[in-house]
Amino acid sequence: MSPGRLACPSVGPLIAPSLLSSDFANLQAEVERITGADWVHVDVMDNHFVPNLTIGLPVVEALAKRSSLPLDCHLMIEEPDRWAPDYAEAGAGTVTFHVEAAAAPVRLARELRRLGAHPGIAMNPTTPVDEVENMLGEVDLVLVMTVEPGFGGQPFLELCLPKVHRVRELVSRAGLQVWVEVDGGVSEETIERCAEAGADVFVAGTAVFGAEDAATAIAELRTLAGRSHSPR
Ligand code: DX5
Ligand code: ZN
Repeated sequence: MSPGRLACPSVGPLIAPSLLSSDFANLQAEVERITGADWVHVDVMDNHFVPNLTIGLPVVEALAKRSSLPLDCHLMIEEPDRWAPDYAEAGAGTVTFHVEAAAAPVRLARELRRLGAHPGIAMNPTTPVDEVENMLGEVDLVLVMTVEPGFGGQPFLELCLPKVHRVRELVSRAGLQVWVEVDGGVSEETIERCAEAGADVFVAGTAVFGAEDAATAIAELRTLAGRSHSPR
């Protein structure tokens, strides 16, 4: 297993700072600021699925060589069937594609797993949980967007919390080991409610990179999430 790969789904709250809010001119230094985190969340955007363009494959390949933490790649792109396998081959720990964009999600999830990554499926705030329900046995992670995808620093959307709860319920009922990740507006104010609803992976961009001391922010988020988190 290459460094940065994940062993298996784990229990306990995992904190995944999003590089979207970091200084893109100093990525290596920014990754070193968050060594106390569990994963590094990498937002890949293509200017089509979302109206923003960020990090792509060459940068992910470079990060995979330097980061001691697993890369949690969130692909906000069209045609993930075509592009996502490259991220698994680059050494990402998780590769998460959007249900709204995938043509053959089962085939893609299996391909990502075959290439050594944990497959994940993401859904936008207004996409119903029904859309991913059939996929729960095929993925290791479900990402519930808690803002409209595309930008960091947006306010948390409370309306997404029942979906987090529903995903956790379905996963538990089926006896599956699946991470439930929340992404967008996760902060010291909102993280406890996310954990209560059943999330166990917490993406935080602004709340970590916008803090004076990223390590303290990570520790604080972990403590708050741990208060409400119930081991599955
Ligand atoms: C938004 C991205 C998020 C974003 C989170 O499309 O998927 O990962 O960076 O940033 P904050 O925590 O600032 O909402
Ligand atoms: Zn993201």
